[in-house]
Amino acid sequence: MISSAPSKVILFGEHAVVYGEPAIAVALNLRTTVMVERASDYSVNGYPLNDRYHRYIKNAITLLWDGDPLKITTASAVPSASGMGSSASITVATVAALLGLKGEAYEKNVALNSFEVEYFTQGSGSPIDTSTVTHGKGILVSNRMMDNFLWSVEKNKTRWYIHHLEVPPLKLVVGFSGVKGHTPEMVRKVRRFYEWSTFARDIIKEIGKITMMAIEPLENEDYVRIGELMDRNNRLLTILGVSHPLLKKMIEAARKHSYGAKITGAGGGGCMIALTDEQDEVARAIEEVGGKAYKVKISQKGYEIQS
Ligand code: PMV
Repeated sequence: MISSAPSKVILFGEHAVVYGEPAIAVALNLRTTVMVERASDYSVNGYPLNDRYHRYIKNAITLLWDGDPLKITTASAVPSASGMGSSASITVATVAALLGLKGEAYEKNVALNSFEVEYFTQGSGSPIDTSTVTHGKGILVSNRMMDNFLWSVEKNKTRWYIHHLEVPPLKLVVGFSGVKGHTPEMVRKVRRFYEWSTFARDIIKEIGKITMMAIEPLENEDYVRIGELMDRNNRLLTILGVSHPLLKKMIEAARKHSYGAKITGAGGGGCMIALTDEQDEVARAIEEVGGKAYKVKISQKGYEIQS
């Protein structure tokens, strides 16, 4: 059984989505492939299945598989811990393969189980990454049911409604700082701020408003407005304390040739994104200040079972 899944970037609303505020993400064309075969022992890429190095795969097996041991082989074009959803990508590809073996790999089942595996592994978070990587294209997560509803997810009294969002063929450049952001740590850091400060709670709400404002310009391909809203979202993320000196530098460098640029994902390292018509110039500017640039396209395909 071979399956694959795309990566993703969050366009709007990271961190705020953990508190039930809306967020928008798109799938990217960098993919992870997972092959599973029945075997006499569990292994991943030739090594014994290990709690520490194969956490997502191990937990997917624990939650979803009680059959024969499996030989698992993975290949990924997604840089790890980068904000491009490498953990969601490996999780969704693995879950799709395991459910595929059982004949149960339909979209909602893959999405809901992938969220359970990611949550079980990280101990926190929202379903935005796993939903986007499962569905492909664009995803809007919100706290109420809207048009193009796909499924909903509940955890610890927060309910997220997942929707398909029509997005134009955005030209994005992702800049990776090379500093691996640790998502659960960043989520905990924001939570501490959120719990003691009304100011932080207001920022989270404001991020939610910006996300809602972005829906119309995304539908109408109004890149100037999308860029402005990305810049505003970035200022608020910076106040929340999830930026990093190199992310700031890359964002500044990218802005000269972009409609807008912002941190994407949990921050504290990881990645920024820029929306642009000039992907080459932006990529060059990012690399000049020390980042690694990826010119990416939106993936129309979510997870896929190949055999
Ligand atoms: O760092 P990433 O790409 O896994 O994004 C995390 C997004 C957060 O909103 C910070 C957490 C979450 O699970 O929603």
